[in-house]
Amino acid sequence: MSTQNSTCLFIEGGHKLSGEIKISGAKNAALPALAATILAPGEFLFKNMPWLLDVSTMLELLCRLGAHYDSLDDTLSVDTSVLEHYEASYELVTRMRASILVLGPLLARKGKARVALPGGCDIGKRPVNFHLKGLAALGAKYSLEKGYINVKAPRRLRGAEIIFDFPSVTATENIMMAAVLARGKTIIGNAAREPEVVFLGEMLNLMGAKIKGLGTENIVIEGVKELSPVEITIIPDRIEAGTYLMAPGLAGGELILTHVNPHHLSTVIAKLREIGLEIEEDGDKLRSRRKRSLKPTTVRTAPYPGFPTDLQAQIMALLSKASGTSVIVETVFENRFKHAEELRRMGADIVLEGQVAVVRGVKKLQAAPVKATDLRASASLVLAGLGADGVTEIAQINHLKRGYEALTEKLSKVGAKIWEAPCQAT
Ligand code: UD1
Repeated sequence: MSTQNSTCLFIEGGHKLSGEIKISGAKNAALPALAATILAPGEFLFKNMPWLLDVSTMLELLCRLGAHYDSLDDTLSVDTSVLEHYEASYELVTRMRASILVLGPLLARKGKARVALPGGCDIGKRPVNFHLKGLAALGAKYSLEKGYINVKAPRRLRGAEIIFDFPSVTATENIMMAAVLARGKTIIGNAAREPEVVFLGEMLNLMGAKIKGLGTENIVIEGVKELSPVEITIIPDRIEAGTYLMAPGLAGGELILTHVNPHHLSTVIAKLREIGLEIEEDGDKLRSRRKRSLKPTTVRTAPYPGFPTDLQAQIMALLSKASGTSVIVETVFENRFKHAEELRRMGADIVLEGQVAVVRGVKKLQAAPVKATDLRASASLVLAGLGADGVTEIAQINHLKRGYEALTEKLSKVGAKIWEAPCQAT
């Protein structure tokens, strides 16, 4: 592992958790909301903005287009009065695939966009064909040149009926953002129903858009001529909340999560109760504790309201200490089991067969040097570390910083022994 001189995350397992964790604003709501600022010249105000590497990357992208921002605590203002540029560079897109979210709004505002084509990534091929087909249906012309997508719509986009082969989250968001300023009506069929998509739609409606059917598989958009900037609060991060809900299952003890929307977590809560965690809801709070041993189960990831693929790695860590054999089926991404190899290094008994993981629960996990391979995989290693004997060393923690705000601080406050220090394993 070439980790010398870089920072690792160390976790001494076996310390029971106790206390409150405040859940941050959702990364996957913040990113499209920031991209949506392109649609209306002027100053936007965001509250509950999480300070994450991905948010900084999106702000850097907006600044390169010509925007300005200012921040104080979790409040952020973004001014998009003047946008001279229309390009998202390869360097930015490789840092964050969600940069693709500027494609639709740039096209709607500037009539053109140039965005580097994202390559495959650690969790699968992740093509952008739905985004491009959708924009083409709205009248845009695109070409792929030297690794860049060039899209043009010299005249105003026009509404169309677009039916996705799969309810892609960012493709639904991109098309929504392009269609709000198009001429006429757009229907998006087989649209994503994730709470973050609904949040974006509600933000666009607040800006003056006419979108109906949010949260259903048919989104209908009546194009309008112009939109105005708004002030909005980012919804709570259901994936961060789901991750911390599982923590007492591995470390023992009890956690209270505050600033949560439990409705967004219904499927996750039901699954965790089935496994044996006691979860109580009280307004925007959730209490999670482990009273008995964990039971094995079957998990099948699916688009919302199914079990989120973004919590698959974490539940694999949890089930690796259940008393029996669990089966996890990943249906959203074709290559999202890299964490299994790292969890095995910690003593987990996991067999992979294509999109299926068979997890035989073990009595103990053992600390080991492990490597974070992607954002959610990193979170599963943190959970495993909390429940392992000894000190786990996690390398490549930049992935974690992309999506978990102040994770070390939040877990330290509730009794975990977790710290960052120069990597030691070679
Ligand atoms: C979003 C989330 C990510 C989450 C994922 C699935 C953001 C910023 N990211 O990613 O955290 O894991 O949803 O819930 O919100 N696909 C195609 N062609 C396309 C687009 C997608 O084939 O043009 C496929 C993908 O390869 C994947 C599936 O559709 O197999 C779903 O992916 P999608 O919903 O698009 O994920 P993202 O929007 O990239």
